[in-house]
Amino acid sequence: MRTFKNVVLIGFMGVGKTSCGEKLAHMLTYEFLDTDHYIVKQEGMSIPKIFDAHGEAYFRQCERRFVTEVFPTLQRTVIATGGGMGANLELLNLLRERAYIVHLHVPLDELIQRLLNSSGRPLVKTADPRRDMKALFAKRLPIYRTADLEILTVYRSIYSTVRQMAFYYERQLKLVNHRSF
Ligand code: S3P
Repeated sequence: MRTFKNVVLIGFMGVGKTSCGEKLAHMLTYEFLDTDHYIVKQEGMSIPKIFDAHGEAYFRQCERRFVTEVFPTLQRTVIATGGGMGANLELLNLLRERAYIVHLHVPLDELIQRLLNSSGRPLVKTADPRRDMKALFAKRLPIYRTADLEILTVYRSIYSTVRQMAFYYERQLKLVNHRSF
């Protein structure tokens, strides 16, 4: 049976998982953990450096290790994932066992603008980032959409997004507790 001990935020690069996650953790009085920050700390180098030195496959192994070894030890934690973690159905299904999954959604055109103006994301540094982001987004979206909740985060304040997430999560917790009596 699924348990809801944590909240996991998934979604494409640039949707605001970290900023929303920090605020949601504060609102719920949960801990906050960002998987990219965790991996950077463990590896002692930035994400672009990990990709350069060891390749993307190694970074994906770090993500898998987080899900199989660290995640099972967490409770009352909001976890902001890197964009690839929630797009891997096998890892997402493991996260789903012990967490409420929220997909933060932003339309592709807006995301492309945000990503072209940002640095530190190796997957955006390609010869044709618009084409590649579009293809990656199309491939990942159906997987992100298996989340328990999808929230459109554009055209509204972070506070309103976070309040909505907290409302649905707490409602889900009440339903689960109610059923177990
Ligand atoms: C990635 C997203 C990044 C980071 C890495 C790979 C992806 O995290 O994990 O660059 O595959 O989408 P953000 O989603 O926080 O940008």
